[in-house]
Amino acid sequence: MDRKNLRVNGERLWSRLMELAQIGATPKGGVCRLTLSDEDRLGRELFARWCREAGMTVEVDAMGNMFARRPGRKSGPAVMSGSHLDSQPTGGKFDGALGVLAALEVVDTLNDAGIETEYPIEIVNWTNEEGARFAPAMMSSGVYAGVFKTEDIYATTDHKGCRFGDELERIGYKGDLPVGGRDWKASFELHIEQGPILEAENLPVGVVTGVQGIRWFTVTITGDEVHAGPTPMDKRRDPVRGLHQMLALCYEATAAEGEWARFTVGEINALPGSRNTVPGSVRFTIDLRHPEDAALDRLENAYRAAAEDAARVHNVDIVVDRIWNSPPVAFPEELIASVANAAETCGFKTRRLVSGAGHDSVYVSRVCPTTMIFVTSKDGISHNEAEYSSPEACEAGANVLLHAMLEQAGVAN
Ligand code: HGY
Ligand code: MN
Ligand code: MN
Repeated sequence: MDRKNLRVNGERLWSRLMELAQIGATPKGGVCRLTLSDEDRLGRELFARWCREAGMTVEVDAMGNMFARRPGRKSGPAVMSGSHLDSQPTGGKFDGALGVLAALEVVDTLNDAGIETEYPIEIVNWTNEEGARFAPAMMSSGVYAGVFKTEDIYATTDHKGCRFGDELERIGYKGDLPVGGRDWKASFELHIEQGPILEAENLPVGVVTGVQGIRWFTVTITGDEVHAGPTPMDKRRDPVRGLHQMLALCYEATAAEGEWARFTVGEINALPGSRNTVPGSVRFTIDLRHPEDAALDRLENAYRAAAEDAARVHNVDIVVDRIWNSPPVAFPEELIASVANAAETCGFKTRRLVSGAGHDSVYVSRVCPTTMIFVTSKDGISHNEAEYSSPEACEAGANVLLHAMLEQAGVAN
């Protein structure tokens, strides 16, 4: 058969996506598979079983990253495709899962066709891409790329005070393999777009050229805990007043920076958390994104100035702590071309776009030539239980992944 006519088994891919989505299924049709939870463990076990049934070996490193390997005629370097099986608390069925299971579908398709590749193929499930339970996001690909230290990450805690290292051990995925240093020649990640661009142009597949920059901050505003009743308004040091003014200034600065600037406050906590006590402190998170570092610098400076203003006006203390900085990433043209060629082979019209969401490929790109493929997200929705990509879009993305990987892995027989 002409390799160009090779296609994945879309039904097999879809049924696996739906089977995996049963693990951590939520009442509104989404999934909650927080990293290192029992649901994460069950998802990992299902993935490992499917990989072994496909004749692959599965290894686990000290960050719980899972590496499934299909041998090639040569011993290496491998062509890798990875993503993540952990989800947001009210996540969708496709974020991360599509990339991992589409890579498995590529392997099953090669098995069905009796194709031996020149170079081996590896599939990776990265631990804690989401960063929802343990910050930051893309944590384990970050350790793999040498950005974070394993012992620092082991010491991070979730909102309940559980340590990452303990939870990794508890679910049985604290592997022996050292983190990093695998022999890869190229990496592809298939992912849902999680935005509105492809759907607006009625395109099933997108050729991703890079990922925008991300900065995470934790802001703590401190005032005085006082009684809500007898304390006159002008005798308070109310952190909520500081929050109110700071947020107004931050939204204003973000709007002035134009359409690609993104400012999100995902968590707000008032302590002690009693409705008849003026909070002693308010803690909130900022997720800042933009494709350009200079704009990120301008916005970070504006947010810090807003904090100073609000602190002065409302006589409170405000500390802005940047806990994560993931600079913008541009993928190499050679791999972007592999994706564009693959889309052409499959007969898909595409467009190039920058990823608004962060992905493990950001850090993988520091250790190996890497790029990404997007498929359409219905209504551009993600990090939401209503997240949906059609069977056709998932199959289209998997076919482009198949041919992009084949171009890099080569066919030996
Ligand atoms: O935050 C992100 O962009 C990714 O979904 N973790
Ligand atoms: Mn993701
Ligand atoms: Mn996500």
